[in-house]
Amino acid sequence: MYGIVNKAIESLVIESFGIDKWDKIKEASGVEVDFFISNEPYDDDITYALATAVAKEMQLSVGDVLIAFGEYWILKTGKEKYGNLLEAGGNNLKEFLINLPAFHNRIMLMYPKLTPPEFKVSDIEENSLYVHYFSKRAGLKEFVRGLLLGLGKLYKKEVQLELITDRDNGNHHETFKVSW
Ligand code: HEM
Repeated sequence: MYGIVNKAIESLVIESFGIDKWDKIKEASGVEVDFFISNEPYDDDITYALATAVAKEMQLSVGDVLIAFGEYWILKTGKEKYGNLLEAGGNNLKEFLINLPAFHNRIMLMYPKLTPPEFKVSDIEENSLYVHYFSKRAGLKEFVRGLLLGLGKLYKKEVQLELITDRDNGNHHETFKVSW
């Protein structure tokens, strides 16, 4: 994944627990990159190794780390670095989610080597809809959960999530029912 993702994991850890913890986590992860460059692609293994090392050091599950990272990605990285892009995504949570399938098209313009996630939206009701998540990568559904919770906070809506389909149960993609 692009360096900006690894850099965001680093910032989350430093802001939450301090630089010493980060140095320890980085060492334990075995990742030998001195510093990440935002617009350079890195092997996915690096991102997974960092997330796993954070979980181990902080005695959390990898899922909980990914949820925290998803929220951070929206509320810090997204808001601070890509505020205009996020705003262009919609005037409220429902609009943003309906537009989500096209969101990474714009990101591809900045990061041409992106391997983006794919989203579809269905079952649109007044206060809920289904978000379908397709990915070439495994193990990131809790990241999506955190992103959706982060979007709820961004748009000041109390969001409930229900996992309807799950690749862990033999489906070929994940589906979250998002209610607010
Ligand atoms: C704030 C603006 C955003 C930016 C700049 C951004 C950018 C990126 C980048 C650079 C990657 C790494 C992919 C790669 O390097 O190949 C990525 C992955 C991902 N993004 Fe975004 N993104 C943003 C918002 C969102 C939102 C709102 C969602 C969904 C709610 C989302 C869902 C994901 C997921 C699930 C992945 C993991 C890739 C996968 O599943 O294969 N992103 N994004």
